[in-house]
Amino acid sequence: MKLWSKGFEPDKMIEEFTVGNDRELDLQLARYDVQGSLAHIAMLESIGLLTADELKVLTDELDNIAAMIERGEFTIAPGVEDVHSQVEFLLTERLGDVGKKIHSGRSRNDQVLVDLKLFMRDKLRDIAGAVSRLFDKFQSLSEEHKDVLMPGYTHLQVAMPSSFGLWFGAYAESLVDDVRMLSAAYCVANQNPLGSAAGYGSSFPLDREMTTRLMGFGTMHYNVVAAQMSRGKTERAAAMAIASVASTLGRFAMDVCMFMCQNFGFVSFPDEFTTGSSIMPHKKNPDVFEIMRGKCNRLQCLPNEIAMLTANLPLGYNRDLQLMKDIMFPAVTEIVQCLEMCTMMLGHIKVNADAVNDSRYDYMFTVEDVNRLTLSGMPFREAYKTIGLQVQHGEYKPTREVHHTHHGSIGNLCTAQIKQKMQQALADILG
Ligand code: ARG
Repeated sequence: MKLWSKGFEPDKMIEEFTVGNDRELDLQLARYDVQGSLAHIAMLESIGLLTADELKVLTDELDNIAAMIERGEFTIAPGVEDVHSQVEFLLTERLGDVGKKIHSGRSRNDQVLVDLKLFMRDKLRDIAGAVSRLFDKFQSLSEEHKDVLMPGYTHLQVAMPSSFGLWFGAYAESLVDDVRMLSAAYCVANQNPLGSAAGYGSSFPLDREMTTRLMGFGTMHYNVVAAQMSRGKTERAAAMAIASVASTLGRFAMDVCMFMCQNFGFVSFPDEFTTGSSIMPHKKNPDVFEIMRGKCNRLQCLPNEIAMLTANLPLGYNRDLQLMKDIMFPAVTEIVQCLEMCTMMLGHIKVNADAVNDSRYDYMFTVEDVNRLTLSGMPFREAYKTIGLQVQHGEYKPTREVHHTHHGSIGNLCTAQIKQKMQQALADILG
């Protein structure tokens, strides 16, 4: 049975092809669909399209459906196309004709838009929350290990002294920028499209300010065509933010894989957090971080996938947009899983404070020694040459003394300032 049924049923193959994964994916939209309908009927009553009694019975029944959804008992029946149809069928089945009034001045096109905006707002907040927990972990590890040196690399060649404090702290601060992206995406999602109907508005005097207020949107998409065009655009902004988080996380995962390698040996994890090999009995592999790296690399394709899906779409609603859910829904779950897994793993990371004492890292102290000579009065270029010649002749002996004091350096990590930046960024999305 279809909402648009006019006495014939579509061909089975056509139905399966066009409905696709909606019956399953739309379950994630169900609570938002009800939330949107509650706002819509309150507005319909305020403009005289529903009586107060009708509003009451419809509200009660929508509340019942919301409770069903929370209990996990809501399903989309075979033959019903999507969540929007299922909710309307339930209302009509239980309440009769009054259920048929709910769709006045509305289309599934703006209904799904509302659902997706509400969904995206929640998910972006969930992601920001998970990022914030990982940020805290990075910061506490950074403080805990701020005096433990490790080699810094450029061109993947030993370069200058770094520290575990600097390494963990770097990822903390990098996440601040990702939160700014999440908050920009939140801002794009936080606009009410309801009332755009099929994409060109309605001849009913819809009170769009009222529904904006009722659903707690920051503003509305005023232009009804712009509202429709926001499908895809909202997801694209969210996808860019997710890709940004994924790039930070994927890069960290790569560092961990590399630093766990015996040739580096900078970090390790308890045995139960590593995986083995079916043939090599000695193996303790970093599979968690490899899977994380792979997932994060894939997540960075998201904006591209969405760009391709929406490329050259003409104005107005197009069914192609339905496929956006197949791309976005698994992605929002996956990024949160990766963030949570990383936070959990970091609770067990062990750092190797001795690694840096190996003579293979001696040259990372050359700049320290050049600077020491410079501070004692030798011109920099001369000091550089002096140490350079010692290296050249195999006579260089590092003093191993490191004294960095400026903002953001090994000796002055600015953890509190970075925390403050993060709190400001988070306030924009978490309130
Ligand atoms: N399942 C559809 C989607 O996600 C809902 C909107 C259907 N609208 C339509 N005109 N067929 O896009």
